[in-house]
This record gives sequence, structure tokens and C-alpha cells, in this order.
Amino acid sequence: MIKVMTVFGTRPEAIKMAPVILELARRPEFQSIVAVTAQHREMLDQVLRLFDIKPDFDLDIMSADQTLFDITTKALKGLDGVLTEVRPDIVLVHGDTTTTFVGALASFYHQIAVGHVEAGLRTRNKYSPFPEEMNRRLTGSIADLNFAPTSTARDNLLREGVDRSKIFVTGNTVIDALHQTVRAEFVFGDELLKTIDYERKKIILVTTHRRENLGEPMRHVYEALKQIVEEFPTVEIIFPVHKNPKVRSIVDAVLGGLERVHLIDPLDYEPFANLMSRAEIILTDSGGVQEEAPALGKPVLVLRDTTERPEAVDAGTVKLIGTDRARVYEETRRLLIDRAEYDRMSAAINPYGDGRAARRIVRALLRHYRLTDEPFTEFKTSS
Ligand code: UD1
Ligand code: UDP
Repeated sequence: MIKVMTVFGTRPEAIKMAPVILELARRPEFQSIVAVTAQHREMLDQVLRLFDIKPDFDLDIMSADQTLFDITTKALKGLDGVLTEVRPDIVLVHGDTTTTFVGALASFYHQIAVGHVEAGLRTRNKYSPFPEEMNRRLTGSIADLNFAPTSTARDNLLREGVDRSKIFVTGNTVIDALHQTVRAEFVFGDELLKTIDYERKKIILVTTHRRENLGEPMRHVYEALKQIVEEFPTVEIIFPVHKNPKVRSIVDAVLGGLERVHLIDPLDYEPFANLMSRAEIILTDSGGVQEEAPALGKPVLVLRDTTERPEAVDAGTVKLIGTDRARVYEETRRLLIDRAEYDRMSAAINPYGDGRAARRIVRALLRHYRLTDEPFTEFKTSS
């Protein structure tokens, strides 16, 4: 059996790795071993519970207000021990967090092969998003197999000289996870979410966490939202606030106590995904949400100046608006009053996946280890 170790640490990595882990478990050719750094704790654990994943190793590194140095050094040292003990044939890492990069680096130091899931995303701006753009480039330099979600991501890798035979266009596993989670008949457990009148109210769903937005950029976004909620009585803002205390303090200062602004704890993935599908507009600086919302036909205003996910921007369902207060206010207001603009942005599109990404990743691994002759069929954007 081929020993495949998945290494991840944060909420989005867990959501996007879960379909791969479930698919590996179905194949007798692989022994699947799960190691989490737990760079996130509660936000990671809710995903593990939802997909019933029990890690074989849990480094439990999270600390309050952790720095990049804390995460890097603790994860690197912890993974040294795990890799020494297990000696997997290949380590799979996901995306662009510090856990991702350290997972690749630790594997390299042990001369263990690395597969990079969600490879090839680029903004070409070293500091935006920070530190994710460098994390993914550094991971890409180490990776032996690259699972690119889209042809755009593949082309980025080809331009950097990566061998074509080492790149597999798979679609993004986030769409696999979404398909397994969003249901029209879903009933919220949470009292607030259960009682909201989704037909008559206009729900603006908000998430923010990017390091480069901490401080003034976030304050400007929240001030714009305050103006919106005061002007539009049918608007309800639902804002599951990231656990980072640096985010929480600014949110509370600007939006705390306002009528029709619901500042709640991060939601578990199942209610969050189902809430996305009932929202009117989504404002976010998240990477994953930019991929999920277009599949649900929800307009997204991205609170960033750059994106590594240009596909939905090109298709018109996602707009990059940055964090300038006047711009955030104007763009949100426009979507609330201009039906044509709203309809234009809310066409459902699926540039990121078709729900079969994990199967493609596992098929590519089987081919790599010469365990199947079945051909690899790449993901193609259909709409
Ligand atoms: C991290 C990733 C980012 C990813 C994001 C997804 C890095 C450097 N950053 O950013 O790429 O987009 O996760 O959400 O890899 N905290 C808790 N409980 C939790 C999670 C976080 O209390 O379950 C608090 C802790 O105080 C922690 C802080 O949030 O120190 C920040 O967490 P951290 O992982 O450093 O940064 P994120 O902004 O979450
Ligand atoms: N998400 C969640 N609960 C929330 C907010 C987001 O489960 O309260 C999910 C969301 O659906 C997406 C992922 O978390 O799949 C995105 O995580 P995040 O924005 O933290 O990270 P990023 O994608 O920016 O790295």
C-alpha cells in the first residue's frame, strides 16, 4: 500500500482536503494518514467533526495572537517527528497557508515527495495576499505533483517552468465539499438563522480575516456597512466574525450593538454554506468564499485589491472592490438598488469545479504509482 499523508491546519484547508481524504479512504491501494498542525483549533475541529475525520497526529500548535514565526517553528518541529515516525511515500498539502508551506518544507528535508492540492494560484504580488502568495510559490517550488484547480492555474505553473507531466487540472475540491453540504431543505439549528425571513429580508453575509486588511482597511469596510444598514431597513447583516482577536476588536468597535447587524461566532461549514445559498450579497476577503459563491449564483464583492482567482471576476459574478469606505458603500448600495446589475452578477457559474476534483486527484495518484491504466481526464470549465 502507498502511504499518503495529508497535512493541514486551518479551516479552509480542512474543508478542501476533506473530499480527498474521504476518497483516499475508499481506495484499497492507499493507506491514508492524517496529520493536522491545528494552526486553527475550533475552526478546524468543526470541519473534522462534519466530515468525520479523525487525525492520526494533532500537533495542537495554535496560540492566541500567534505570529508567523510561532506557526512556522512549531509546525516544522512537530512535523519532523511525525515524518520520522511514519515515513509516508507522499505528503499532500493544500493551498497557501503557513502550514502548507511548512508541510512541504518538512517533507523536503526528509526527502519525501510532495503533492500540492490547489496549486498554481498567483497574484504575482509578493505581499498580497500576505503571506499566502509566497507560501504557495514556495510550496510550488518543492512540489513533485501539482493539482491545479483550473487551466488558468495550470498556465501559471507552465509559465514558471513546471513540467507539464507533473500538472493535473482537477477542479477545486471546495466544489466537491459544497455539493456534499448545500441542500434546499437544510434547517438551521441556530435560533437567529432559523427565524430570519429570507424572502423579505436582504441578507448581506460578511467575512473578513486577511492579515493585510487588519486595522484601518477593516475599519473602513465596517463603517461602509454601518452606513448601508442605516440607509436600508430591509437589510440584515450576518457577520460570522473570525476568531482572530485582532479582527474581533475592530468589528465590535464599529458594528457592535447596531440594529440588524448580527455579529456571531464563526459558523460551522454546513450552516455557513447553506447561509451563503440564501444570502442576497456576499462581502468577503476570503479565498474559499470567492470560489463557492459563484457556484451558488451569489454576487460577491471582494474586499481586496488583488485576487489569485480571476475566473469569476472575468465571468462577472465577483467584483474586486478593495477596502475604500466610499467604494464599499457605493458598490454594495448599487447591488441593493440596481436590479439589472444584481441579475448580471448573480448568474450561477462553475469555473472552479464540477464536484469531481477529489476523484481526479486520487486517479492522478494511482497513475503516478502505476496502479491504474485508466486515463486521467482533466477538469474543463463548462460555463
Ligand atoms: C490563516 C492563514 C490564512 C487563511 C486563514 C483561513 C496563515 C499565515 N494564515 O489566517 O492563509 O486564509 O487561516 O481562515 O497561514 N483563532 C482562534 N481559533 C481558531 C482559529 C484562529 O482562536 O480556531 C485565533 C487565534 O488567536 C490565532 C488567530 O486567530 O492566533 C489567527 O490565526 P492564524 O491562523 O494565525 O491566522 P488567520 O488569519 O486565521
Ligand atoms: N466558512 C465557514 N464558516 C464561517 C466562514 C467561512 O465554514 O463562518 C468556510 C467557507 O465556506 C469557506 C472557508 O470557510 O469554505 C473559507 O475560509 P476562510 O475565509 O477562513 O479562508 P480562506 O479561504 O480565505 O483561506
